[in-house]
Amino acid sequence: MSQSAKLRYDDKTIELPIITGSENERAVDIRSLRGNTGLVTLDDGYGNTGACQSHITFIDGEQGVLRYRGYPIEKLAEKSTFVETAYLLIFGELPTEAQLTEYRRLLTRHQFIHEDMRHHFDGFPPTAAPMAILSAMVNAAGCFQPELRQPEEDDKLMEAAARIMSKIRTIAAASFRKSIGKPINYPRSDLRYTANFLHMMFSLPFDPYEPPSEVVKALDTLLILHADHEQNCSTSTVRMVGSSRASLYASISAGVCALWGPLHGGANAAVVDMLSKLQQSGESVESLVAKVKRKDSGVRLMGFGHRVYKNFDPRAKIIKTACHAVLRELGVNNPLLELALELEEIALRDDYFLERKLYPNVDFYSGIIMSAIGIPINMFTVMFAIGRLPGWIAHWREVRTNPDSRIDRPRQIYVGPTLRSYVPLEKR
Ligand code: SDX
Repeated sequence: MSQSAKLRYDDKTIELPIITGSENERAVDIRSLRGNTGLVTLDDGYGNTGACQSHITFIDGEQGVLRYRGYPIEKLAEKSTFVETAYLLIFGELPTEAQLTEYRRLLTRHQFIHEDMRHHFDGFPPTAAPMAILSAMVNAAGCFQPELRQPEEDDKLMEAAARIMSKIRTIAAASFRKSIGKPINYPRSDLRYTANFLHMMFSLPFDPYEPPSEVVKALDTLLILHADHEQNCSTSTVRMVGSSRASLYASISAGVCALWGPLHGGANAAVVDMLSKLQQSGESVESLVAKVKRKDSGVRLMGFGHRVYKNFDPRAKIIKTACHAVLRELGVNNPLLELALELEEIALRDDYFLERKLYPNVDFYSGIIMSAIGIPINMFTVMFAIGRLPGWIAHWREVRTNPDSRIDRPRQIYVGPTLRSYVPLEKR
């Protein structure tokens, strides 16, 4: 295969090098383009633009492949834990027994939030969106650890990563408890990461919540599946904010805000909302699909489609299986699951979806599992953020430890008004 691409423009022909990644992905390196031709490229939504070279996650959208640091997502979902997967993403290798024990110790040590932070919750109205609280409280947490705002050395990064990973769980559970008028639960030192979160979410005074092991495993698997996804919108946001040398806390807080959108991390809630409306209205699945296919309806099949996966999303397959297992274990018959299965079956027989390569994505079934566990719909995207946090931290570290890293500053093509004179107020 050629090692360069030729671009002919006016009377010039320039040669641009081809970069080949470790999985044989190829890119034309345009870093010399503007200097040699005065041209910039334009690519709304960056569908054809690589922002960086990364060692963290590989996706093959055509084959439905997803690997974290070379390990297939299917194997990690089956054999790993969220804490071990987080360590792998952030530091690049599966931890030894000693490293995992140390990281777990740090998570336990840093599971409390400063008592002064608890008062912050009183400042939010009960109806406050949990994602708004989360982004605010992550930044607030940084105020209590100023020495860890710029953790570029690995020992400081391990401490900072453990602090944010542990506290995001405590903050999320506390925001839920405040929203339902229940006392905020303190974390327990005898529980592992995901079980401790469930305890903080659902325990009552004198009535501790002991989550069934299947529930802990299902939620832990969900967190693994959400842990990273290369240059998605929120991760690219974290990288961009980190490229200005903003703190790890500020970068994570920005990632939370980007994830909030219904086209991104908000889709899991939008799926359950769509299925619930379908169930309550009695509208048929066929009628919804027909509406989605009508461009002017503006209705999208939430939980379907993906910028990168043009085949199945491997995470959706794993979640779908876990869905059946959890509902069976809990003896829950969730009619939304039946609707989702019917919707998937009908959509995947329809040319509109097949032609556009629209398949279920990570969000299509995840909300059904979270509902079965008792997590309310307004906390679904918060769960996505808890899962995605290790990936955000890994990418922030990759930006900050890359000696060639520059501040992100895209170009544009200006299409606004050309030069004109100022018109005094009395003459307008
Ligand atoms: C996540 O990037 C990541 O990795 C994200 C994520 C991660 O782990 O970080 O995987 C998590 O965000 C998953 C996606 C969750 N969002 C949704 O489920 C919302 C519904 N899906 C979409 O809106 C859409 O599919 C996107 C946003 C996911 C992808 O959008 P693209 O790549 O910009 O695709 P597009 O809007 O250009 O659509 C291409 C065509 C269009 O039709 P035509 O104009 O060609 O006729 O497909 C249609 C779209 O109208 N289309 C859909 C559709 N998604 C795309 N039609 C109906 N329902 C949909 N869901």
